[in-house]
Amino acid sequence: MEPLSKIYDVIIIGTGAAGLTLALRLPSYLKIALFAKQSLTESNTLYAQGGISAVLDAADSIDAHIRDTQNAGAGICDPSIVRLVVEQGPKMIDWLIEQGVNFTQDTETNNGHYKCHLTREGGHSHRRVAHVDDATGRVIETTLLKLVQAKSNITLFEQHIAVDLVTARRLGIRKPRCHGVYILNKISGKIATWRGSFIVLATGGASKVYRYTTNPDVTTGDGIAMAYRAGCRVANMEFMQFHPTCLYHYKAKSFLISEALRGEGGQLILPDGTRFMPKFDPRAELAPRDIVARAIDHEIKRLGIECVYLDISHRPSAFIKEHFPTIYSKCLEVGIDITQEPIPVVPSAHYTCGGIMTDSAARCDLENLYAIGEAAYTGLHGANRMASNSLLECVVLATQAARDIQHRATILHPIPDIPDWDESRVTDSDEEVMVTHNWGELRRLMWDYVGIVRTSKRLARAKRRVRMLRLEILEYYSNFRVSSNLIELRNLVDIANLIITSAQQRKESRGLHYMLDFPESDPYQQRPTELIPDTYIPSKK
Ligand code: FAD
Ligand code: SIN
Repeated sequence: MEPLSKIYDVIIIGTGAAGLTLALRLPSYLKIALFAKQSLTESNTLYAQGGISAVLDAADSIDAHIRDTQNAGAGICDPSIVRLVVEQGPKMIDWLIEQGVNFTQDTETNNGHYKCHLTREGGHSHRRVAHVDDATGRVIETTLLKLVQAKSNITLFEQHIAVDLVTARRLGIRKPRCHGVYILNKISGKIATWRGSFIVLATGGASKVYRYTTNPDVTTGDGIAMAYRAGCRVANMEFMQFHPTCLYHYKAKSFLISEALRGEGGQLILPDGTRFMPKFDPRAELAPRDIVARAIDHEIKRLGIECVYLDISHRPSAFIKEHFPTIYSKCLEVGIDITQEPIPVVPSAHYTCGGIMTDSAARCDLENLYAIGEAAYTGLHGANRMASNSLLECVVLATQAARDIQHRATILHPIPDIPDWDESRVTDSDEEVMVTHNWGELRRLMWDYVGIVRTSKRLARAKRRVRMLRLEILEYYSNFRVSSNLIELRNLVDIANLIITSAQQRKESRGLHYMLDFPESDPYQQRPTELIPDTYIPSKK
């Protein structure tokens, strides 16, 4: 039997790269609780392949990394955040190495010293992506998790899904403050109240709102939806990134073919073997992701084909197996030998560039609340994230948050009492079919109407449908006992609404947001899109 109320100094929701880094960076006199809604490792981090970007080569420079990030971001990155993150890059790689992440070494030039092998990805003007073969995320996730598990001040809870934040407003006080979070234990079915001096959302992105995605099932935008409902501003939600190359095979769900494969010479071809990227961009296969994904989408629609192909078979077989062991064996599992034949690929939803607005210390609009990692909007990515900048952002901003929390933890205020979750007016659900049907319908409509290429008409159609779905889901939510699926569906419909509302505000094409009826960028719209919830209380700071 779980106690009804639990108190921690820091409550971190999410055990991906961002949440784990923060937990390790905080001082061990703080009592920390860390939550994951499925297993402790299931996260986007676990599946990251290509690597983590940082300036590590003498021929590269901080200015070049900054310039590339801003070019990919199509003019709306926050320059101070870009500089902060890029400058911290080399230190973060050192820190990860100290934690035990065994980055692939450059055998030709190491001279007895640890020197990372650097790969290249779209938008980068230099080789600057440190990696562990093609399974960088898996190694970061498992290495950091092992260290966190060994710390006596940290308690980990898996199969626990956060439902909503508890704000001062919810307690009848008109202050922009967060005091806790309601969390459903998926095993016992009970919702408990967790109180914390600091609450951190490290809940990852929202790509699951689309029918086809490279992401695992956990990416339902829970943190973003919870923060918005609680009164935090969100920004740039129209910029959902589609990765150009997801394996297209009926036996493979959501398997990514890393951009690093193109970095090492992989070419995109049509079914008849013609290479097509050079006609879309002089950087060809290594143009930023939005350009490559749109070009593939264009060719698929123009020719009425199901997929295009990515071919690396011209490189030596031993090289391919050594650099891409995960991709090689996954493809072989479904009957494709990538050393001999091209890989069928399609674009899929991959990354949420927008999110909860934070400052450079990861603070949100509510006092005591922080957001880090893919759930946050820091201003780093602008209208399009450059490859491998995300893991870097997770580690840098988690470090910033740790510093800020440590500083503020010297004067902890008492946490007020919070009423228990009220289930007195709900009954057990008798129509689970509503939940499964609406999951499918929502993700299909987002794919069809709010995808890689948009129009005002499609967005208006999507808005009408989402409004109806939202009413139905909220009514169901108020009448029936909540389940994990229902919590995620409620969040997804809120996320869909935020994406469409932001997309409708941007009457131009910029980065990942491409509108057929506004095909050009408009200098007057060169700024982030900010959405302010009704519950927002401006801070007096
Ligand atoms: P995640 O790693 O997604 O972790 C989210 C955590 O939040 C999970 O523990 C989850 O259980 C928990 N959670 C969510 N909601 C709740 C809730 N309501 N209650 C409790 N817990 C909750 N980026 C790069 O920089 N380089 C790459 O090479 C790269 N490759 C990628 C390949 C793939 C296939 C994918 C999908 C992404 C890739 N990315 C890459 C992006 C990068 O992996 C992610 O942006 C990054 O890992 C996000 O880390 P995070 O800690 O913010 O969230
Ligand atoms: C990839 O390996 O292609 C993914 C890199 C990223 O999303 O940053």
